[in-house]
Amino acid sequence: MNMPRRVEPEWLDELPPQDARAMRSRRDLQRINALMANAAIVARELERGFPDESPRAIAEIGAGDGTFMLRLAERTAARAKDVHVVLLDRQDLVASETIGKFASLGWQAQAVTADVFEWLAQPGGQVFEVIIANLFLHHFDVAELRALLALATGRTRTFIACEPRRSGLALLGSRLLGIAGCNDVSRHDAVVSVHAGFSGRELSALWPAGRTWALEEHARGMFSHCLVGSRTNVDNAASRDRRT
Ligand SMILES: C[S@@+](CC[C@H](N)C(=O)[O-])C[C@H]1O[C@@H](n2cnc3c(N)ncnc32)[C@H](O)[C@@H]1O
Repeated sequence: MNMPRRVEPEWLDELPPQDARAMRSRRDLQRINALMANAAIVARELERGFPDESPRAIAEIGAGDGTFMLRLAERTAARAKDVHVVLLDRQDLVASETIGKFASLGWQAQAVTADVFEWLAQPGGQVFEVIIANLFLHHFDVAELRALLALATGRTRTFIACEPRRSGLALLGSRLLGIAGCNDVSRHDAVVSVHAGFSGRELSALWPAGRTWALEEHARGMFSHCLVGSRTNVDNAASRDRRT
């Protein structure tokens, strides 16, 4: 299916956080993440990337209410204790109960409210072992993505993105979300998200040149598309030296 990429505004981004339809749509998002199996997909990528020792410093950009990261933490907590996780979003959405659930897994979660570009560009900002983006990169056009990925490479040694796959099957799935009880906002945004999603090696093509990174980009599950960027060993040593 030939689907040119198209980025359009999502309703959830424009509704006030406390709007009833927005709150309902964020709960739908938890179900959509479960249907896409995104926590399982990212957990597998983490295990592959960190076979010996789990990362202790993780950030999620565009983390929403933090529940995607909580599902990921539940999957990895058995092998990953004493983890510090930053949940970055431009909206203040993380409930104190969610922070408490991280704590019961032995993870220290910190919600940060900021624009991703400003936060990534902060001089002297922490360098993380992993930055994760889940259902986030598709919000941005090519120029913004180039800028975001370039900034992210200065703040992490592994970058994992799990995004909507731009495919006929994903489009069909997004159109059937009414059956799963999702509201009008979620149904609209799901279709828009698939059109703004990725296929092939579109994200790798936007990765900044001139640094030593290993890139893998694949379809994952039925509806998802993943990019994993890892600094090679030479750069890892430099990153460890710089870490604060
Ligand atoms: C589709 S939601 C995904 C939330 C979460 N990753 C998940 O899977 O449940 C996208 C999130 O990106 C956030 N967002 C959009 N543009 C942003 C920006 N420029 N800086 C920070 N967050 C942003 C929105 O507020 C929203 O919470």
